[in-house]
Amino acid sequence: MTIRICPSVLNADQSDLAREIKRVEGVADFIHLDIMDDKFVPNFTYSFERTREIVHDSVLPIDLHLMVEDADHWGPTYASLKSEGVFSVTVHYEATKNLSATIGLIKGQGVRAGVAIKPATPVEVVKDFIDDLDMVLVMTVEPGFGGQSFMAEMMAKVSTLRKWIEAKGLSHTWLQVDGGIALSTIDQASASGADTFVAGSAVYKSENPAEMVADLRKRANASGR
Ligand code: DX5
Ligand code: ZN
Repeated sequence: MTIRICPSVLNADQSDLAREIKRVEGVADFIHLDIMDDKFVPNFTYSFERTREIVHDSVLPIDLHLMVEDADHWGPTYASLKSEGVFSVTVHYEATKNLSATIGLIKGQGVRAGVAIKPATPVEVVKDFIDDLDMVLVMTVEPGFGGQSFMAEMMAKVSTLRKWIEAKGLSHTWLQVDGGIALSTIDQASASGADTFVAGSAVYKSENPAEMVADLRKRANASGR
């Protein structure tokens, strides 16, 4: 399985994100950018305009994780930043009213579309949509903040999704985990069937972010399928 490592810059130095992103150039696959509106989650990160600047200045393609209300509106709106460097847009299942249409509008702009589920949301909610998704994101912490502990009990959802993806032969569908991913937890997630890993504090709180990304990839490859 191809492993992808996506450092999250949520807890990186916000005063120079372009430089922070450059530190993992050549070793990370994507930069995971967390958009929070202080409504869907109790934290705020970037406005749409600020997001455009960050994406524009990034040397790596951007995996956008929208933790905002009204994702039916914002998903396609953020997908319009494709020309600036947005590679994928993930909306939360809990923040959409018309998931199918929203996925279609994101993909229609040539951007990969993902759906995220919070820890309390059962995996079954994505079953009907899985054929249309480019990525499913299983949250392994409560969304809103970096630096929280990995919820190992979410691995059951990851295994279930991996089974569905394999049974349907959906080789283009990536399975992402986000929250508490570090050298001590990535092996469990990888063994459960995840192939795309977000790591925030593990990468940016380490002495050498690039080396940490390489180490995380090695660990995931060693325990993956
Ligand atoms: C949390 C965000 C995560 C966060 C992960 O709501 O979605 O992407 O940056 O940070 P760590 O890896 O520190 O848990
Ligand atoms: Zn995230």
